[in-house]
Amino acid sequence: MCGIVGYIGSQEASPILIEGLRTLEYRGYDSSGIAVFDHKLNMVKSKGRLINLEDKLKVEDLQGVLGIGHTRWATHGEPSDHNAHPHMNESGTIALVHNGIIENYISLKEELIEKGYRFISETDTEIAVQLIDLYYKEDNNLLEAVIAALHRIEGSFALAVVAEEEPDKIIATRKDSPLVLGIGDGENFIASDVPAILRHTRKVYFIEDYEIAVVTKDDIVIMDMDQKRIKREIFNVTWDIQAAEKAGYEHFMLKEIYEQPKVIRDTLTPRLPMDQDDVYLDGINLEKEVLEKITRIYVIACGTAYYSGLIGKELIEKYARIPVIAEVASEFRYKDPILDENTLMIVVSQSGETADTLAALRMAKKAGAHVLGVVNAVGSSISREADDVLYTWAGPEIAVASTKAYSAQLCAMYLISMKISLVLGKLSTEEFRELRAALYQLPSQVEHILENANLIEAMAKKHVNMKNVFYIGRGLDYAVAMEGALKIKEIAYLHAEPYPAGELKHGPIALIEEGSLLMGLLGQESLFDKTVSNIKEVKARGASIMAIAMEGNKEVEQVAEDVIYIPRTHWSLVPLLENIPQQLFAYYIAKNLGHDIDKPRNLAKSVTVE
Ligand code: F6R
Repeated sequence: MCGIVGYIGSQEASPILIEGLRTLEYRGYDSSGIAVFDHKLNMVKSKGRLINLEDKLKVEDLQGVLGIGHTRWATHGEPSDHNAHPHMNESGTIALVHNGIIENYISLKEELIEKGYRFISETDTEIAVQLIDLYYKEDNNLLEAVIAALHRIEGSFALAVVAEEEPDKIIATRKDSPLVLGIGDGENFIASDVPAILRHTRKVYFIEDYEIAVVTKDDIVIMDMDQKRIKREIFNVTWDIQAAEKAGYEHFMLKEIYEQPKVIRDTLTPRLPMDQDDVYLDGINLEKEVLEKITRIYVIACGTAYYSGLIGKELIEKYARIPVIAEVASEFRYKDPILDENTLMIVVSQSGETADTLAALRMAKKAGAHVLGVVNAVGSSISREADDVLYTWAGPEIAVASTKAYSAQLCAMYLISMKISLVLGKLSTEEFRELRAALYQLPSQVEHILENANLIEAMAKKHVNMKNVFYIGRGLDYAVAMEGALKIKEIAYLHAEPYPAGELKHGPIALIEEGSLLMGLLGQESLFDKTVSNIKEVKARGASIMAIAMEGNKEVEQVAEDVIYIPRTHWSLVPLLENIPQQLFAYYIAKNLGHDIDKPRNLAKSVTVE
C-alpha cells in the first residue's frame, strides 16, 4: 500500500502533489504528507485522511517547484503524524517517501544507532533516509548514495528521494512495488499508479526492479545499479481521466457496479466473434502442443480475485477435464507445490501488483511452469512478468471493494476455460455456441438487474440491523457466497460467513438465532431442492431468509421472505449474475450504516506487502 507521488517542473508542486495523492488515496489513508523544496526542504504531514493534510496546508503553505508526497497504509508503526511520510534525515536536507516494507530494518537501525543516528518514528522507512544520509556524507552525490543504500536494503520498495543540495532532481527506484514515471513538457512526474498523473500526461515509463530513474525537469534517465543507461519505450495510456472520476455517482463503488455491462462487453466480445467458432485470446500461447503436455493447472490469487479463480477451476475441470488446484497466493507461496514444465499457472489480479500473487508467479516461472496472468492494470508487475497476459478490460477500479474487476475476471475465466476445452477437443461446437450465445446475453441481463436496484435497496434497509449474515450455496453458488460475504465484511463491517449449504449443520448452524440473516444462493438449478432443504433448517431456528434464484423458480418464495430473481442463463454464467445483487446489497447496507464505502477502514486497494 501506500501511494507515492513526485513532481519537478515550473508549476507549484504542492497542488499537483495533493491532486495526485487524492487519486492514490485508495492505496492507504492512515496519514499523508508532502515535502517541497524552496531554498530548503519544507515538510507538512498529518495523521488521517488527506483532507487533514489539506487543512494544514491552508495554514502552512508550501511553495516550490519540486516535491514528493505520500499517502500511507500503516505497516510498521501506528498511524500518526511522526510515522507519516516523507521522512527526513536529522538535518532535514534529504527527504524520502516509500511504499513497501524494508525487511532488514532492525539490523540496519541498530547499525545506524551505533553510528550515532537517532530515529523519531517507528517506521522501517526512516532507516532508508538515514542510510542514504550516511552514504551522502561520503561524496555528496544523491544518486550514488541511493544506489549504495539499495545494496543494503532488503524487502520491497518504491522510493522517491530529494536532497536540498541537488534541487534539480528526484531519484526514484523500485523493487516489488509499483512505480510509474510520467513524461511532461518541461516537467516530469512520479507516481505509484497511472491515474495520479493522468491529468498531466498520458506518456509514461514503467521501471523494473532495481532500476533507478534520475528525474529532472527536462529529462528522465533510467539506469541500472551500475549506472548503465537503459533505453525504455514510452507507454501511451489510452483510457482517460473520466474513467477515474465519479461521474455523478455518490461513490466509486456504485459507479463501478453500474459500469459492469460495458466491462463485460469489452472483455468478452472482441475475443468471441459471432461468426467464428473459436476464442481469440490476444495471441496467448494456449496451443495444442502447449496444452497437451499440461498435467495440472493452478489458479492462484488473493481475495476477490481468488473467488473468481474458484469459478475458473470448476469450469476448466468440468469442460477440459484437467485437474485444477485453486489456492490463495499467501498460502501457496510457502508450500512445496508440484510445479514443473507441465504446469500451467493462471494468476488473477486486478492491480497486477499483489505481493503474494507476484511471488507465486515467480515461483512458478522458476520451476519452468507456464504462467498466464489475468490482469486489469496494464503495465503492472504481474502483466510484465507473466509469460502471457489476458487483460480484463474493466478500466481503473478506484473503490477499494472490488466489483467490476470481479465480473471481468469471471469473463476471463469463461474465455480461458472455453479456449482450453476447444483446443483439446473437449467442447463440442454445439456446447460452444450455446455458451457464446449466453455470454452475449450477459451485459443486457446485468442491466436488467441494475434497473431493479431499488428493490435491493429496500431489502438492505429492512435488514440493516441484522446481527450477522450467512451466505450459503452449493457448487458454483458456494464460490459466489464467498464473494458476497467478503463484500459485506469489507464495507458494512458485519460478521458474514460463507458456507457450503450442506456443511452448515456440521457446526455453524449453532450460531443461527433471531437477528441472523441467511442469504441463500439458489442459482444452480440442479442443486436447488438440496439448498432449499438447508434453508428450511435455518429458518426453523429463527433466522430471516433472503434468496437469489433464477427467474421461474417461484418455489423459493415458500422459504424466503425476500427473493431477488436473476435472468435465466447457462448454469456456468449464474455466478456473474448472482453476484450483482450481492454487490448492491452490500453497498446499500454499508450506505445505511453510514460507512465510508470507497475507503473502508483498515483496507487498501493494492496489497503490495505480504
Ligand atoms: C476485495 C478486494 C480484495 C482483492 C485482493 C486481490 O473487494 O478487492 O480482496 O481482490 O486484495 O487484489 P488484486 O486483484 O489486485 O490482486
